[in-house]
Amino acid sequence: MKALAVIDKNLGLGYANDLLFHLPTDLAHFKKHTLGQSVVMGDRTLASMPKGQALPGRNTLVLDISRPSGKLYDVAKSKDQQGADYSGPESYICYSFENLDEFRAYIIENKDKLGDIVVSGGATIYRLLLDDCDELVITEVEAAAEKVDVYFPEFRDNFDVVKSEGPYYDGSLEYNIRYYKKKEK
Ligand SMILES: NC(=O)c1ccc[n+]([C@@H]2O[C@H](COP(=O)([O-])OP(=O)(O)OC[C@H]3O[C@@H](n4cnc5c(N)ncnc54)[C@H](OP(=O)(O)O)[C@@H]3O)[C@@H](O)[C@H]2O)c1
Repeated sequence: MKALAVIDKNLGLGYANDLLFHLPTDLAHFKKHTLGQSVVMGDRTLASMPKGQALPGRNTLVLDISRPSGKLYDVAKSKDQQGADYSGPESYICYSFENLDEFRAYIIENKDKLGDIVVSGGATIYRLLLDDCDELVITEVEAAAEKVDVYFPEFRDNFDVVKSEGPYYDGSLEYNIRYYKKKEK
């Protein structure tokens, strides 16, 4: 499992249920890593997406305590609502999971259909699943956002940088994309 996130200099992730930065080039990067694969997100992050809907072209697994596990999430208005085909990049499906054990069992059972599992936020879900991740792809903005109310968990003691891309620029913002692998225990 891998996690993808955009953070500021202080591990800041978001404010008022929105992202801290809207980096156009980073959207392409997110797409590259998730298209045809499966993204895992919390219900608040799903609600913050355009129209509160899952992104097309990928399976979306939603962690949400208040909905029954394994049920199609009712924002999924896709041709896959009947659960027919969720293997291709044109399809998407949303499930919700009451707890992490059921989520973990589901991804093991459906391994072949789901492709890569990409943890996509928010703060609660990164914190819950960081130990399950062996790879992190972090867009690191070299600035401190003014207002932050959610943070990525501290990870640098347990992961090593294996690759770095950048610097990239969006206006005056500089950022690098760093690939981390979990340290051997
Ligand atoms: N910078 C980035 O890369 C990035 C990416 C994504 C999101 N974000 C930001 O992160 C913020 C949202 O993060 P957040 O922490 O508020 O919300 P979140 O992680 O999107 O969702 C939290 C939800 O997870 C559910 N949950 C908690 N524990 C669970 C468990 N053990 N099993 C199953 N579900 C569980 C809860 O559902 P219930 O509501 O049912 O209790 C909780 O409301 C926003 O500001 C967003 O913009 C940033």
